[in-house]
Amino acid sequence: MTKRRIALIATGGTIAGAAASSSQTLGYQAAALQVEHLLADVPGLDALADLQAEQLFAIDSAHITSAHWLQLSTRLNALLADPAVDGAVVLHGTDTLEETAWFLHLTVRSDKPLVLTGAMRPATALSADGPMNLYHAVAAAAHPASVGLGTLVVFGDNLYSARGLQKRDSTPAAFDADQYGRLGLVKGSHVHLYQRPVRAHGDLPLPDSLPSVHILHAYADLPVTQIEAAAQGAAGLVFAGLGNGNLRPDWLACLARLRQQGIHIVRSSRVPNGTVIRDGEVADSQHGFVSGDNLPPPQARILLQLALASGEPNLQGCFDRH
Ligand code: SIN
Repeated sequence: MTKRRIALIATGGTIAGAAASSSQTLGYQAAALQVEHLLADVPGLDALADLQAEQLFAIDSAHITSAHWLQLSTRLNALLADPAVDGAVVLHGTDTLEETAWFLHLTVRSDKPLVLTGAMRPATALSADGPMNLYHAVAAAAHPASVGLGTLVVFGDNLYSARGLQKRDSTPAAFDADQYGRLGLVKGSHVHLYQRPVRAHGDLPLPDSLPSVHILHAYADLPVTQIEAAAQGAAGLVFAGLGNGNLRPDWLACLARLRQQGIHIVRSSRVPNGTVIRDGEVADSQHGFVSGDNLPPPQARILLQLALASGEPNLQGCFDRH
C-alpha cells in the first residue's frame, strides 16, 4: 500500500513542554519546543506516513480562544481539501483539547481522518507520554478505519470521538468520555475500531465570529443574581443543572424569564455521564429551552454558538442531530 500523506499541525501544549530536569512534571514551560523537535523524538514515524508539519500556534491551550478555533478549522479545511493530503493530526494542549476537537468535529468538512493528541508530561520528562501519543495519532490518521468518523482524539492508547470527550484526570490517564465516546484503541501501528459515531459532523458552517454564550454550574446556594449577571449581553446560556438537568424553582423561573427576553437556554447537567432528557424533569417545550442531551457543558456551549451563528431555526433539532 502506498504511504498516506498526513498534514501535522502543532499548536503548543505540554506535548511541546520543557523543564529544567527530567523528573520535573510540574512548573514546566508548555509550548516551548517547535514541531521539528517533537518529530525528531519519534523514530519510525516515516514508516507510518509521509508527514508535512507546520507550527500554527505555540501556546498553552489555556490561551486558545474561539479566534484560534476559526483559524485552525479554516487551515484544516484547506489542507484536507487538497487531494495530495490523506489526513491530518493536530498537537494540542490537553486542558482545552475537548473544546477544540468538538469545534473541529462540527466544522471540518472532510471524510479524511483528523486526529488530535497531546501529552500530560512535558517532552523533557522521564517517560514522557507525548512521543507515543504522537506516534499513535499518526497511525490512526493514516489508517483506513478512521475515514468518515469525524474528529478523533488519541490519548493513552485509546481512540475517542471528539463528541462527549472530557479531560477527567490530571494524571497521564487524562481523558475519558461517557460510555458512548470511546471508539477503540491504538497499539503501535495497530488501530482497533469497535464502534462508529452515528451523529452528524462536519456540516455546520464556519462563521466569522461566534456569539457570546456562557456556562453556569448549579450548586447549593447559587443565587439567581449570578444567572442574571451571566446573561448580561449574552445570546445564550448553558445551565449545567443537577442530575437530569434539574432546576431549583427560582432558577427555573429566572431561566424562563431570560428565555422570554430572547436569550437561548440549553439545559445541561453537571453530572459527567448525564443525559438530559427533553421534557423529562423540566417542561422544556413550554419554556422554550433546549435539552443539551449528554454533551458536556463546554461542548453544548460550542454547539449552541455554531447553531446560532448559522441562523439555525430549530435548535433542539440541531442538538438531536449532533
Ligand atoms: C495545555 O493545555 O496547553 C497545558 C497542559 C497540557 O497540555 O497538559
